Amino acid sequence: MKETGYSATEMRDIPPMADSGTQPESTTMPDFTKPVQVTTAGRPLESDLNTLKVSSVDLHIYYGDFEAIKGISMDIYANEITALIGPSGCGKSTFLRSMNRMNDEIEGSHCTGQVLVDGVDILQRGTDVVELRRKVGMVFQQPNPFPMSIYDNIVYGPRLRERLSRGETDEIVERSLTRAGLWDEVKDKLRGSALGLSGGQQQRLCIARCIAVEPEIILMDEPCSALDPTATFHIEQLMMDLKDQYTIIIVTHNMYQASRVSDRTGFFLLGELLEYAETTQIFEDPQDERTDAYVRGRFG
Ligand SMILES: Nc1ncnc2c1ncn2[C@@H]1O[C@H](COP(=O)(O)OP(=O)(O)OP(=O)(O)O)[C@@H](O)[C@H]1O
Ligand SMILES: [Mg+2]
Repeated sequence: MKETGYSATEMRDIPPMADSGTQPESTTMPDFTKPVQVTTAGRPLESDLNTLKVSSVDLHIYYGDFEAIKGISMDIYANEITALIGPSGCGKSTFLRSMNRMNDEIEGSHCTGQVLVDGVDILQRGTDVVELRRKVGMVFQQPNPFPMSIYDNIVYGPRLRERLSRGETDEIVERSLTRAGLWDEVKDKLRGSALGLSGGQQQRLCIARCIAVEPEIILMDEPCSALDPTATFHIEQLMMDLKDQYTIIIVTHNMYQASRVSDRTGFFLLGELLEYAETTQIFEDPQDERTDAYVRGRFG
């Protein structure tokens, strides 16, 4: 492995923006004031007809009078990694948070439209939000382990749900940490503070904590932006390992990351979903010049 944490094979598949030889000659900026049109619906990949897991239908999200999400309809498929990209402030986190109703925690935020998870509209009154957040877990930009032991971080969620014997919690801890690729590094210090781990280990611990309550969907909001390249590499490998069992939706500003790990990519601009397609298409043959400009690093 190189110092960057990436092998030559992984470096080979980076998108055009990393290769100055393929930069477009024109430096004219596209017209960002044009009305937005979704050019490609998110249909299942031909090679892998996964089932629909989450759909937003004409979703509008407001902070007070400000409309942060302007009528987004988007289909997300099970056992895929879906990347949400776009310039700062375009609504990626707001959209992501709608999938487990985290925007409810923000005063003044309200929304219209639907967010269907397994066909059920989770925005309806009467949704069990605690159960929803078990099913739709979230990993944040800054690793946020609780100030307690590694062991207690993992069993915190499961213990809230049910009484568990010591044998059962031991089993959950080992299974979750193994799945998150952290077991070998921490198995001898499970009673030590989680805050004593490195940033990358803390983020894998947060993923293990999320997995411990057996979610089906994992939302990740820039999970690697506070990590170095080696730790980032570990998390990316982990995401690819996990997608056989989970549906993963990741917000990232890192174009290499989106192109390396995701099956499908949505490009957000000014609260709208400008283009959504298979990741290879978004990076190699985007239909909108604004997507093209963004993925080549010409703005944002
Ligand atoms: N709690 C809030 N109160 C008011 N406005 C907010 C709040 N959170 C976000 N916004 C506004 O909503 C818009 C979308 O913000 P959001 O955080 O979803 O963007 P983002 O694409 O995730 O940006 P970044 O890439 O910088 O994280 C922005 O204009 C932002 O200022
Ligand atoms: Mg954000």
